[in-house]
Amino acid sequence: MPVFQIAPANEITVKNLLTAFESESNAHAKYSVYAERADSDGLHRAASLLRAIAHSEQIHAYNHACVIRKLGGDPEAQLQTVEVKTTLENLTAALGDEAYEIDSMYPRFLVENRRTDNSAARTLTWALEAEKTHARLLGEVIMQMEAGGADPPTDTSVKFYVRPVCGYVSRTPEPERCWACDRFCARFEAIR
Ligand SMILES: [Fe+2]
Ligand SMILES: [Fe+2]
Repeated sequence: MPVFQIAPANEITVKNLLTAFESESNAHAKYSVYAERADSDGLHRAASLLRAIAHSEQIHAYNHACVIRKLGGDPEAQLQTVEVKTTLENLTAALGDEAYEIDSMYPRFLVENRRTDNSAARTLTWALEAEKTHARLLGEVIMQMEAGGADPPTDTSVKFYVRPVCGYVSRTPEPERCWACDRFCARFEAIR
């Protein structure tokens, strides 16, 4: 990944943000394809969730890119070919990716961040907290499907709500201050 005009003190943070940007960009692309597969399987509820999470990942990628540019970097992502399996397998793979980001990638990047202003810490923390909502909602739909709760002939799309600042995803438009980004979000993006 190319790195331009970056102060030595920011090199690790920019390198990590570039890795996170690539991960978020690939997650956006992958979940969008998974959503199409879920729709074609008649699993529209899972498709709605995957679309909402895909949008959230795009927000994370955008937030990371803004900080990368601010620190003199050039956000570029190599998009991988998406391997599409059954929707249950795709959801399980997505949950594994979320777990990696929650348990390993973002905590390490936060520890390694040495920036004294809070822009890098903020975008990393917002993504970390939003990934937890992704993992929780993916886990719920996987459990429903494994228990036989997803009935393709009657499974319908549902709205999920995405906070446009941090990418927090919820089933309802929660009006209170967002605990993930500590901002008031009067507006949510409803994704179906
Ligand atoms: Fe993300
Ligand atoms: Fe995520």
